Amino acid sequence: MGESAEGDATLLPVLQAARWISRPGFNVMHTQPAPLTARRNGPLKGHARVPGDKSISIRALILGALTVGETRIGGLLEGEDVLNTAQALRALGALLEQRGGGAWRVRGVGVGGFAEPRAALDFGNSGTGCRLVLGAVGGCPITATFDGDASLRTRPMQRVLDPLERIGARTLNSADGRLPLTIAGARDPIPIVFEPPVPSAQLKSAALLAGLAAPGETTIIERGATRDHTEKMLAHFGAQVRVAPERQGRRITLRGQPELVPAPIAVPADPSSAAFPLIAALIVPGSEVILDGVMMNPLRTGLLTTLGEMGASIEYLARRSEGGEEVADLLVRASALRGVEVPAARAPSMIDEYPVLAVAASFAEGTTVMRGLKELRVKESDRLAATAALLRGNGVEAAIEGDDLIVQGSGRAPGGGLVTTHMDHRIAMSALVMGAASEKPVKIDDGSFIATSFPGFVELMRSLGAELS
Ligand code: S3P
Repeated sequence: MGESAEGDATLLPVLQAARWISRPGFNVMHTQPAPLTARRNGPLKGHARVPGDKSISIRALILGALTVGETRIGGLLEGEDVLNTAQALRALGALLEQRGGGAWRVRGVGVGGFAEPRAALDFGNSGTGCRLVLGAVGGCPITATFDGDASLRTRPMQRVLDPLERIGARTLNSADGRLPLTIAGARDPIPIVFEPPVPSAQLKSAALLAGLAAPGETTIIERGATRDHTEKMLAHFGAQVRVAPERQGRRITLRGQPELVPAPIAVPADPSSAAFPLIAALIVPGSEVILDGVMMNPLRTGLLTTLGEMGASIEYLARRSEGGEEVADLLVRASALRGVEVPAARAPSMIDEYPVLAVAASFAEGTTVMRGLKELRVKESDRLAATAALLRGNGVEAAIEGDDLIVQGSGRAPGGGLVTTHMDHRIAMSALVMGAASEKPVKIDDGSFIATSFPGFVELMRSLGAELS
């Protein structure tokens, strides 16, 4: 992954500005914005491994905290979202030990065993950490206050509170279904059948984690399948989970009140993070990059399907199984891309990848239509609006029609824009990927939120030859 960032004098001011603090008893905090600029700098070449998957890392800590005994985790993403979730779990009574290089040990309190926290739980920027822990707390007889940063405070939580209230939890206060909110978990949780009104793995997972503490069977009926890491990991820890196809989606049935038994977890490389160097390699002429050990869970590979349709040259080398997931090394070569139509039904399998796909679509020839992106409006920012603004600010024609995003690709992007990132890590990284291939440099107002999901992004991109300053 190239030289150490601390040893690199040109990067030092960026790191100082973006410094974040993480120590027991304190949450990760941003001090001041860290502007960054990406400019074209010859082909990208080399090997890289992106950090561990964010969804799996957060679930590994939460489920580890619900087992009886010690869970060992390798390759954990040590990004801010995960560290803030770890901090919340400590406040709920679990013991979490960071042993270096992504190795963690978690000593759990057992299903329903969380202790009442003394202070509000602060999840920073992490919607996943917040919603999943809300679910786990919803099945415990304790009261807890949940809070987060300015971005998380705008995001809808009522969708999670609804099933939790049916299970028996009570929302004591919440401004308009948003954070900060206080919840009293169920004393006698009731198993429910729940059909999430939107395709959301976070919502499904929150209901399943609350259902863990209920007797009998909790059932989730998904209209379209979303990422299945919670179900798989629950089974890995010994819970009885049945998954059956139902119409276009799935029926997931969990038998409650199991004793979860610790089992080791190896976290694979995050496909949502791999998307950034991958698309950079596709659009910077002459590039050839290998991304090691990327998770290939079929509920996460919608971007790879789409890029294949666009004519991307991606070879899947050494397909193998790691930690219960299929992974592969991706050999990516710069490619002439063409515009495509991305169906709405594919959205759950690539929900976090649309901003960077829109960058790829800018460099494609022809129109790309991305359908059914309503959920993008309630991510870390309004990502539909932020993505369109990113493109337009850099001279690319983009339109929002209803819930669809339409990009007119012309094989090139003028660049030259200053992108407002709205506390959104994926908007920040997408803009920098555009700047690596556009005619004029692209600037972002704040790169500090990149650390929520992809610590080391700047160094990794530089090790491949990108110019980021
Ligand atoms: C996630 C699910 C997705 C995704 C998020 C991670 C998860 O959110 O956007 O980054 O780990 O369950 P939704 O489930 O709300 O779509």
